[in-house]
Amino acid sequence: MPDSPTFPAVQMGLVRPKAPVVGRGISNELCLKGKSASFIKHTVIDVSDTPLAGNFRAGQSFGVLAPGVDDAGRPHKVRLYSIACPSWGEDGEAQVLSTTPKRVIDEFVPQSDADDPADHSLFLGVCSNYLCDLKAGDPVALTGPQGKRFLLPHDPDIHNYLFIATGTGIAPFRGMIMELLMRPSGPSGARIDLVMGAPYATDLLYDPLFVELADEYPNFNYHTALSREGDAVYVSDLITRNMDYFCPLLADPGTLIYVCGIEGMERGLFKALVEQDLAEGYLKNHNGTAKPTARCLLEVY
Ligand SMILES: Cc1cc2nc3c(=O)[nH]c(=O)nc-3n(C[C@H](O)[C@H](O)[C@H](O)COP(=O)(O)OP(=O)(O)OC[C@H]3O[C@@H](n4cnc5c(N)ncnc54)[C@H](O)[C@@H]3O)c2cc1C
Ligand SMILES: NC(=O)c1ccc[n+]([C@@H]2O[C@H](COP(=O)([O-])OP(=O)(O)OC[C@H]3O[C@@H](n4cnc5c(N)ncnc54)[C@H](OP(=O)(O)O)[C@@H]3O)[C@@H](O)[C@H]2O)c1
Repeated sequence: MPDSPTFPAVQMGLVRPKAPVVGRGISNELCLKGKSASFIKHTVIDVSDTPLAGNFRAGQSFGVLAPGVDDAGRPHKVRLYSIACPSWGEDGEAQVLSTTPKRVIDEFVPQSDADDPADHSLFLGVCSNYLCDLKAGDPVALTGPQGKRFLLPHDPDIHNYLFIATGTGIAPFRGMIMELLMRPSGPSGARIDLVMGAPYATDLLYDPLFVELADEYPNFNYHTALSREGDAVYVSDLITRNMDYFCPLLADPGTLIYVCGIEGMERGLFKALVEQDLAEGYLKNHNGTAKPTARCLLEVY
């Protein structure tokens, strides 16, 4: 097995924010396992007759321009959303894509000295709520695709995979895992492990799909790390506590690690790799700081 993966060339920035294209909402359903304090949708958008059609890859993202203007009276800036489907789209022909928006809903928290410290009014994120409200047939201004690094490798069958997600960071992995297991040429025989982190079991995303895939494909293993119930673990704790299970996968020079979700989640993983003497190949020392190699792909925001 190679120790340095190569990645395919992809299209980038075909549609710019100055000249967005119009997609159409197709469906917009909650994708949480149960009743949750969060609202997270599986949003499906028709991009046929736009340059996005046929030109996106699992792991890339696309931009959404919410209508209206910001507090300064300027049009809203583009927000990025991960593509949650395989490269052949939701329709098999790459004319329809999907994503996993989470409504940003909170009490206002002062962000600068100019903000009133006593203001705790309802705070609603602009674009996440716009996208979660999108109905079938609604137009939506789109840009992209974006991202050229967080992709499946050029030759996917010569690698094994550890996918680690927190929350909506699962979006790209839904697409990648479907692409590995449900491709028209037949399923990859690669070992594929998904570790999904969520506060409660009810917050798990796309859970029925992953349970079904784990039942059907013996090479796909689905693990959940719940941070506020049961043993209360983060994704890295789950891996550390089950090292006998994960060690052969991590020690394999063909394994690739993908991490997506909350900024900072990678630190627990890096610590575990170093402590278990498994960092070689995944991390390199850069001026005293651990930096991921091409075998450890990060998308954390
Ligand atoms: C590559 C990439 C992929 C992404 N993929 C996804 C995805 O698949 N799903 C997803 O849901 N998101 C995703 N995001 C995040 C997404 O781009 C948006 O940032 C997110 O949806 C919030 O946008 P918004 O317009 O709703 O919020 P905004 O209106 O932009 O509000 C959020 C901003 O307001 C401020 N703020 C936050 N909370 C408060 C508060 N309580 N009081 C006052 N101010 C506050 C912060 O500065 C914050 O940046 C991704 C981001 C990147 C970079
Ligand atoms: N392509 C991308 O770059 C991309 C795509 C999609 C999403 N995202 C980003 O991913 C984030 C997902 O947020 P969310 O609101 O969906 O998640 P969330 O529900 O708030 O959190 C998911 C889980 O992660 C846990 N967690 C918190 N800090 C952690 C840490 N340091 N290490 C490990 N686990 C940790 C949480 O635990 P507790 O809350 O109990 O502490 C919770 O169990 C957002 O910031 C979003 O912008 C990025």
